[in-house]
Amino acid sequence: MKAAVLKAFGSPLSVETVPDPVLGTGEVIVNVAAAGVLAYAGDVYSGKRQYLLELPMVPGAGGVGRVRAVGPDATRLAVGDWVSIDPTVRSRDDAVTPDIILQGLTAGSPEALRLQRFYHDGSFAEQVRVPTENAIPIGEIEPADAGRWCGLGKLLVPYGGLLAGRLLAGETLLINGATGAFGSAGVLVGIAMGAARVIATGRNAQALADLERRFAGRVRTVQMSGHEEEDRRKMQSAAGGPIDVVLDLLPPEASPTWVRTAVLALRPYGRAILMGGIRSDVSLPYGWMMRYGIEVRGQWMYPREAIPRMIKLVRSGQIKLGEVTEFPLEQINEAVAHAATNAGPFKMTVVRP
Ligand SMILES: NC(=O)c1ccc[n+]([C@@H]2O[C@H](COP(=O)([O-])OP(=O)(O)OC[C@H]3O[C@@H](n4cnc5c(N)ncnc54)[C@H](OP(=O)(O)O)[C@@H]3O)[C@@H](O)[C@H]2O)c1
Repeated sequence: MKAAVLKAFGSPLSVETVPDPVLGTGEVIVNVAAAGVLAYAGDVYSGKRQYLLELPMVPGAGGVGRVRAVGPDATRLAVGDWVSIDPTVRSRDDAVTPDIILQGLTAGSPEALRLQRFYHDGSFAEQVRVPTENAIPIGEIEPADAGRWCGLGKLLVPYGGLLAGRLLAGETLLINGATGAFGSAGVLVGIAMGAARVIATGRNAQALADLERRFAGRVRTVQMSGHEEEDRRKMQSAAGGPIDVVLDLLPPEASPTWVRTAVLALRPYGRAILMGGIRSDVSLPYGWMMRYGIEVRGQWMYPREAIPRMIKLVRSGQIKLGEVTEFPLEQINEAVAHAATNAGPFKMTVVRP
């Protein structure tokens, strides 16, 4: 089969003929129809992000395709089914503290490298081998829509955070980094989950104005200045009342102070979910958290059962899939460059192997 191979950090991907994956028990092979390219994929392949990857490998995290072959233990999945490929692969030998990799993107932790050695290759290929539970049926779709259905991956990340934050209909939600790809998806998901108001923060005035226009009445925006007190005051004033949940999706380049700005804007007994790429520690006032029962938790990806529910939110029309720009596999390097310069709300770059 054809696949895009990353041989060394900093070298371009090369499209080559590689051996077809071989099916094992507990696995599914999917004919990949479309795979999303992250805005920061180039930073991963250059080594800048220092993601745990053993090279050479076929990158590509998740996507959409049709089942090519199922193992003997698949009870419902059938050849030809359209599926969403979930890159979140969990080890099966520890139910309490599973090791987790994002197949085709990162091992996440040194402990998970063994799992990554087995599910080594990702979806920038004509075929990908995944654990059975990572091929989730999406129902019939037009083949031409496969790229747009890759948008599920964008939506599921903030959905995982909002489920972890137990967002309730009628609550006020603040998304920190809402002008980004995942943050803007979080605004969409928060609205679909019934948030009465969403406060969207970011720096890009145009993107913020677009968000406010798109969700007229439900979304208020705050353009961050970097002055902690002032930004927090603006967040609280935009909320016009207590902020129940904060979802942070800032990238590694952002200052941890921006995270604290948002977390400290919470109401007493509020919940903050940290999902971004921040590497430095965030200092938070112990006494305030203790006195007001503040919850702060991290979240990586989403629980498995969130996926069929998100598919239903899309199928029921409560969430619209965004626009995509598509590239053939042969132009994978152009796709990576395009994704970096065309990041932002409600648009995606995909490759069609
Ligand atoms: N926990 C998980 O499961 C999970 C899954 C996927 C991704 N992530 C993380 O989510 C992060 C965001 O991804 P993305 O693709 O949405 O990124 P993105 O498109 O680059 O968006 C980043 C957001 O942060 C803002 N931002 C960018 N640089 C900043 C800086 N230096 N200071 C302050 N704000 C800044 C952007 O604001 P403006 O555009 O308005 O300037 C935008 O709102 C990633 O870095 C990744 O680590 C986490």
